[in-house]
Amino acid sequence: MRVGSLFSALVGVAAGLSIRAVKPSAGVEALVQRRLPQHAGLFQFTIVDPISQPATGTFGQNVSESYVVSSLNNGKIHIQGNTPSALLSGLHAYLSEEAHVDIWWYIGSQLENAHRQLPKLYAPLKGSSVVPYRYYFNTVAMAVTTSYTSAFWTWEDWELQLDWMALRGVNLALAWIGVEKIFIEVFKEVGLTDAEIATFLSGPAFMAWNNFGNIQGSWGGDLPISWVDSQFALQKKIVARMVELGMTPILPAFPGFAPRAISRVFPNITAANGSVWEGFPTQYTADTFIDPFDPVFEQLQKSFIAKQAEAYGNVTRFYTLDQFNENNPPSGELDYLHNVSQNTWKTLKAADPMAVWVMQGWLFTSNSAFWTNSRIQAFIEGVPINSDMLILDLVSESSPQWQRTNSYYGKPWVWCELHGYGGNMGLYGQVQNVTVNSIQALSASKSLVGFGVTMEGQEGNEVMYDLILSQAWSAKPIDTEAYFHDWVAARYSISKKGPASTSLYEAWETLRTSVFNNTNLTSTGVPKSIMELIPSISGLVNRTGHHPTSINYNPASMVQGWNYLYKAAQQDPSLWANPSYNYDLVDFTRQVLANAFIPLYQQIVATYTKSRLSAKCRGDALKKQGQQLIKLMTVYDAVLSTDKNFRLDTWISAARASASDAKTADFLEYEARNQITLWGPSGQISDYASKAWSGLVSTYYIPRWEKFIDYLVETEPAKYNQTAFAASLLQWEINWTNQKTGGKLQNNAVEKLQTVLPGAVKVWNAVSAA
Ligand SMILES: *[C@@H]1O[C@H](CO)[C@@H](O)[C@H](O)[C@H]1NC(C)=O
Ligand SMILES: *[C@@H]1O[C@H](CO)[C@@H](O)[C@H](O)[C@H]1NC(C)=O
Ligand SMILES: *[C@@H]1O[C@H](CO)[C@@H](O)[C@H](O)[C@H]1NC(C)=O
Ligand SMILES: *[C@@H]1O[C@H](CO)[C@@H](O)[C@H](O)[C@H]1NC(C)=O
Ligand SMILES: *[C@@H]1O[C@H](CO)[C@@H](O)[C@H](O)[C@H]1NC(C)=O
Ligand SMILES: *[C@@H]1O[C@H](CO)[C@@H](O)[C@H](O)[C@H]1NC(C)=O
Ligand SMILES: *[C@@H]1O[C@H](CO)[C@@H](O)[C@H](O)[C@H]1NC(C)=O
Ligand SMILES: *[C@@H]1O[C@H](CO)[C@@H](O)[C@H](O)[C@H]1NC(C)=O
Ligand SMILES: *[C@@H]1O[C@H](CO)[C@@H](O)[C@H](O)[C@H]1NC(C)=O
Ligand SMILES: *[C@@H]1O[C@H](CO)[C@@H](O)[C@H](O)[C@H]1NC(C)=O
Ligand SMILES: *[C@@H]1O[C@H](CO)[C@@H](O)[C@H](O)[C@H]1NC(C)=O
Repeated sequence: MRVGSLFSALVGVAAGLSIRAVKPSAGVEALVQRRLPQHAGLFQFTIVDPISQPATGTFGQNVSESYVVSSLNNGKIHIQGNTPSALLSGLHAYLSEEAHVDIWWYIGSQLENAHRQLPKLYAPLKGSSVVPYRYYFNTVAMAVTTSYTSAFWTWEDWELQLDWMALRGVNLALAWIGVEKIFIEVFKEVGLTDAEIATFLSGPAFMAWNNFGNIQGSWGGDLPISWVDSQFALQKKIVARMVELGMTPILPAFPGFAPRAISRVFPNITAANGSVWEGFPTQYTADTFIDPFDPVFEQLQKSFIAKQAEAYGNVTRFYTLDQFNENNPPSGELDYLHNVSQNTWKTLKAADPMAVWVMQGWLFTSNSAFWTNSRIQAFIEGVPINSDMLILDLVSESSPQWQRTNSYYGKPWVWCELHGYGGNMGLYGQVQNVTVNSIQALSASKSLVGFGVTMEGQEGNEVMYDLILSQAWSAKPIDTEAYFHDWVAARYSISKKGPASTSLYEAWETLRTSVFNNTNLTSTGVPKSIMELIPSISGLVNRTGHHPTSINYNPASMVQGWNYLYKAAQQDPSLWANPSYNYDLVDFTRQVLANAFIPLYQQIVATYTKSRLSAKCRGDALKKQGQQLIKLMTVYDAVLSTDKNFRLDTWISAARASASDAKTADFLEYEARNQITLWGPSGQISDYASKAWSGLVSTYYIPRWEKFIDYLVETEPAKYNQTAFAASLLQWEINWTNQKTGGKLQNNAVEKLQTVLPGAVKVWNAVSAA
């Protein structure tokens, strides 16, 4: 085992010798003060034999971090580790496994639920990382994660997120917020006007794809400068907090995309238009790309990096830079590709001699036809020093590229779990691939230096993301049965054994071996409900790929897990007050009802296409079946409304609240609405980022299905025309994105889940009996 000798040496030291103890990290103690103020005095932190994160040139898998947690005679919990991240991982192991509390997405910190007297340890808890880096965020995504998930987050939301990441051992993370400020200053410095820059920058919900050169400009209104400034202020706090928590921020670098008018200020510049992305009008795509050979590229790179260093300090050597994400290079000639990366690398090194170029490998998956092995090799080897690059193998659990590229021809790389696209919501997991394949990769590839998480949106399925981050501290594939058991104990802060805890464990165990054990890799991401798609008589069910609609498990397992979960609150009604329980029961019910929608839909299609009924009888049957479908969607919406994390108004009010004035708030509401529906001025990638949210179901999906039923009733099957039907929806959809609700709740007064659930069970019973 590569970490063997160092591992035992460190543990030996930490276990008792305390050879060279230094003052504990202030950041770790501050986190404890923030999240566990009542218990803060009960923890003692000691950094023992500190190691620093590998500097450039010294990437190595055998740089191991470790922790030891033990009980002291005075009752305190003593956590020793060799880095702040190791201390935090030790703290997390103790809190989740022993005290049965944790901090969660959406739900927030439940750490204060820990018993006033912390459990005593009879034997020390020990852990040691098997990879030097634990990476977080999708580049197509801090970027994409920031657009789909955190576009409208406040500092409090970020604080929670960063504490979540820190406790789970993340030590390398994208810090991409507020980058527009840097772009604006760099462009202004060379003489571009505000108006010219405005035609380039995209809106707050779409910035990620602007940074990739996929889109430019903003439909529906220009990017508000007040918003740019507020994001920049946020980024300063984020970066400082990351550093405090032992995480290295990865900052953006200048990728080469610029306003069209760059050729006005540099008339001799060599630049080309990139490809048209997803059918967007050219005004909004085919971004101008400055040739990396042109001296202007280096000038802008130096300016960009210097302005960032001035704003955030000397905090990192890691820079994220992607030029050809869903955007092909102008030439596929090997020599050219080699030159492009070499020149880009030179500009980075000119700006910061220590720079490491972090690049995401999505392009190799998404456009594997262009990116043949020889082209990948030519491009990657343009960077002559291996440790000057770090590649994110972006979808290692489903479409890994590291094998075919011979471990990226020696460049350090990170095994990443992507899991879900567009923040779509569906229960899903690959427990085997995440645990077994990641560890297999570690022994098969010398240049694997990290495990990471690269979801497009934090859509749920938190256990699956926890799993890969935990795997970074286990040399063998994690035993997922034991893992899920511990996870459930922490999830619901289970303090005593009983029938309710048994039901909770059974609920998740049922899903672990079914819903979370997808092995059919025709589906490579979280499935979405067909409810969220433009209705059609064909092509909705059994979709494969990264927005699958195919259900790759027996739906009865989902129902069984749901029954166990519901039963737990009948056995212990105090669970109704537990926010994790409320969240999960909404989520499980959501999946059960979404699955039940499929047979109802199929029945309608069969009535329409197969029955030999007269037009009148067919119409009557369709209306009746349509009512059943709408009834299911109505109760679905009501269930979702019982948890703020499943509501449209939460998203819209966050968008509005991030504005400094009413006009900006209206624009941000438009952005928020457009992203989750039409995604583009007129539905360029409609429903890509669809959501199972109350309010969206009631005001967007239900009306679309009602219009569909009406269309079927009035249209002879022989005259069915999907193009015409979809076109008839478009103006209505555009109108929906232009609505302003001020973020108010869109459905009737919200009831408690406990009150709504019997109605959902009744509807489900009726559907399943039919
Ligand atoms: C890492 O391990 C390799 C091979 O086991 C060894 O040659 C090298 O010196 C080690 N590096 C460090 C920093 O311990
Ligand atoms: C652009 O190139 C032309 C011809 O080589 C030269 O005369 C001119 O000075 C250049 N302009 C700039 C701004 O470099
Ligand atoms: C890029 O696109 C713009 C707008 O479509 C066009 O005016 C310009 O000529 C194009 N530039 C190049 C270099 O093709
Ligand atoms: C930044 O810090 C590193 C050490 O962490 C140091 O080697 C480097 O010289 C510093 N760079 C600048 C520009 O101060
Ligand atoms: C690549 O760069 C080399 C050296 O700078 C140059 O000779 C060659 O023509 C370039 N090739 C291409 C295709 O740009
Ligand atoms: C995922 O695991 C399955 C077995 O469950 C295996 O067949 C498949 O090759 C793995 N997928 C990848 C991408 O490694
Ligand atoms: C997952 O499914 C595979 C293939 O059916 C099976 O071999 C494996 O035992 C299952 N694992 C779990 C945890 O259920
Ligand atoms: C995997 O899923 C696809 C799409 O639903 C289906 O066609 C195929 O039969 C499945 N494969 C297996 C082995 O179940
Ligand atoms: C979808 O897949 C399931 C399971 O493979 C199959 O029974 C069903 O016929 C398929 N439906 C359609 C419409 O393809
Ligand atoms: C379907 O509708 C579209 C758009 O209204 C129209 O262009 C097309 O000709 C129609 N197709 C048929 C087969 O009628
Ligand atoms: C869209 O809104 C406009 C303006 O309010 C209205 O005139 C039009 O009827 C609406 N169209 C649809 C299809 O709802």
